[in-house]
Formats: sequence, structure tokens, C-alpha cells
Amino acid sequence: MFSAVGRLDGKTAIITGGARGQGEREARLFAAEGANVMVTDVLDEQLNAVVADIGARAQGMHQDVASEDGWADVVAATLAAFGRLDVLVNNAGIYRVGPIEGERLDDFNRILAVNLTGPASPPCGTQAGGRSSTSPRWPGSTASPATPPTDRRSGRCGA
Ligand SMILES: NC(=O)c1ccc[n+]([C@@H]2O[C@H](COP(=O)([O-])OP(=O)(O)OC[C@H]3O[C@@H](n4cnc5c(N)ncnc54)[C@H](O)[C@@H]3O)[C@@H](O)[C@H]2O)c1
Repeated sequence: MFSAVGRLDGKTAIITGGARGQGEREARLFAAEGANVMVTDVLDEQLNAVVADIGARAQGMHQDVASEDGWADVVAATLAAFGRLDVLVNNAGIYRVGPIEGERLDDFNRILAVNLTGPASPPCGTQAGGRSSTSPRWPGSTASPATPPTDRRSGRCGA
């Protein structure tokens, strides 16, 4: 039985793809543990319902994680709302299954942009010790929990 003990008191997290599924669950758990959460998604109606249900610790924002400009807006809004940024949960992702002969290059590039290159875009600007975590994108792959923001040359957080 889950029992919150304030393990994330005072922390702030961005959780992408939080309108449903694992991201929604992560947003609820983070808030229950004391964190402020900026929850983002492309599904505005579901996102707004989740954020309203979580309450004062949550804010929601429309974000397409494939958009670099969108990342800058989300980070700025998070800092404006909560004053700090400690954790990035790179949860948003898409998964398509279909016959290879019907595959279009645009579809493949969209998968790469949402699951791979887009989540590599967030500007760092977090406190020392900030962490990012990326959900595995297909069954059998592994996550990299608590990966520190890494790429100091580009100034971007590791995905
Ligand atoms: N559920 C599984 O068995 C499983 C297995 C392996 C990996 N994963 C990965 O874990 C993550 C969560 O899985 P889930 O089952 O909760 O998936 P889900 O489809 O229920 O939720 C994904 C969320 O991401 C959002 N999203 C999609 N594209 C987006 C974009 N461009 N920008 C912002 N948000 C976007 C969706 O609207 C949705 O709310 C995904 O990255 C998925 O690929 C899930």
C-alpha cells in the first residue's frame, strides 16, 4: 500500500505526457510526495482534468515535446510558477505498429522527433543536482533513471 512520506518536499518536476497513463501516475505520485509538478501534454482536455484533480501543487501546459521552442517555454513557465527545477521526467512518447510497406518517412521522423531528438532539447538551467529520467520507448529497452543533466557544451539536459 502506497504511503507518501514527503520524499520530494520542496522539489519541482516537469513531467511530459502527463495527461494519461504512466505520466499521469507519475504526476500524481510526485505531487503526493511533496513536489510541485509542471505537467505537459498535447491532450489539453485530459491534461486540464488531471491538473485540476491534483490541485495546488500542479500546473498544466500544452507542449509538443518535439518542438525545441516549446521546451524553452515550459522551462520558463516552470521557473516562473515554482522558482526552481529539479527533475525532468521525459515520459511522453509514441509507439506505432503497422506493416512496413505502409510506413512513410514522415511517420518515422515523427517517432524520432517525439521519442528521441525532441526530449534532448530542454535547456538545463536547473539547480545543481538536477536529474532527468527518460521512459524506455519500447518493450525490453531500459530507462536511465536519475541521469544528471549532462551535455555542458550544448547547455542542454541529457534525455
Ligand atoms: N505502457 C507500456 O507498456 C510501455 C512500454 C514501453 C515504453 N513505454 C513508454 O512509456 C511512456 C508512457 O507510456 P504510456 O503507456 O503511459 O503511454 P500513453 O500513450 O498512455 O501516454 C503517453 C502520453 O504522451 C503524450 N504525448 C504523445 N506525444 C506527445 C508529444 N509530442 N508531446 C507531448 N506529449 C505527447 C500522449 O498524449 C499521452 O498522454 C511512453 O514514452 C511509452 O513509449 C510504455
